[in-house]
Amino acid sequence: MVNLEEPVLKVVDLWKSYGKLEVLKGISFELKKQEVKVIFGPSGSGKSTLLRCINMLDPPQKGEVYLSGINLMDKNVNLNKLRSKIGMVFQHFNLFSHLKAIDNVSLGLRRVKGMSKDLAKQKALEALKRVKLADRANHYPAELSGGQQQRVGIARALAMDPEIILFDEPTSALDPELIGEVLQVMLDIAKTGTTMVVVTHEMGFARAVASEMIYIENGLIVERGIPNHFFESPKSERVKHFLRQIDVLYGKHEDLIKIEKEK
Ligand SMILES: Nc1ncnc2c1ncn2[C@@H]1O[C@H](COP(=O)(O)OP(=O)(O)OP(=O)(O)O)[C@@H](O)[C@H]1O
Ligand SMILES: [Mg+2]
Repeated sequence: MVNLEEPVLKVVDLWKSYGKLEVLKGISFELKKQEVKVIFGPSGSGKSTLLRCINMLDPPQKGEVYLSGINLMDKNVNLNKLRSKIGMVFQHFNLFSHLKAIDNVSLGLRRVKGMSKDLAKQKALEALKRVKLADRANHYPAELSGGQQQRVGIARALAMDPEIILFDEPTSALDPELIGEVLQVMLDIAKTGTTMVVVTHEMGFARAVASEMIYIENGLIVERGIPNHFFESPKSERVKHFLRQIDVLYGKHEDLIKIEKEK
């Protein structure tokens, strides 16, 4: 029987080191279906490592990762199959430059899900529609703007119909004028019930959709709470200082909330 209360993702006491460098020192959190968790913190704090540990691209030394109750650390599970249920969106898009947008999106459907060429193309086109790029389906990455390339990256993740999508600073490599279109697409898919873990410093996005925000520093969770907690009464001085820095570096990005209110 399906347990509706079962978290989609449960991370328990995750530890990861590279040689003597301890990068994650006991991270735990969980997400229910349709929740969006925003993770933020200084450069080098372990955010990307955490995402790579979650999908076992880089397995942790200690701890547990459960996807809908199945322990990915268990040696007997089919890791490739489970990994196909975890979508990933990268900072630098990671598209194949020799493939058109539609083929970048349909590749996983064919190779991993074994779909026929026609069905995979149909599903890929549906995913491109969700990111408002159906009209660019036959363009190569070099013929697309950075924002459009990232939306192809999001479509590629969506097309696989994953249980959860992990985003690693999806807008931080984009020119400022392209960030809004990607955040808007992420907002749309969050609102239609996609379960997401998003590493980002876009606080407007966090405020609009995060069910919880987690601040990580030196591989530890320093503070966590609903967005209002961070915007109105953060406890730790480190968090306050970091949020002030973000305002300076990224601007306040309240535009996204304005867009939402005008809808
Ligand atoms: N494969 C690796 N081998 C050795 N050290 C690594 C490896 N991957 C990451 N690290 C180190 O682990 C620490 C955390 O890196 P990570 O990329 O997770 O940080 P981050 O929070 O994502 O930073 P950023 O905000 O700059 O992306 C850094 O000190 C980094 O140099
Ligand atoms: Mg990173």
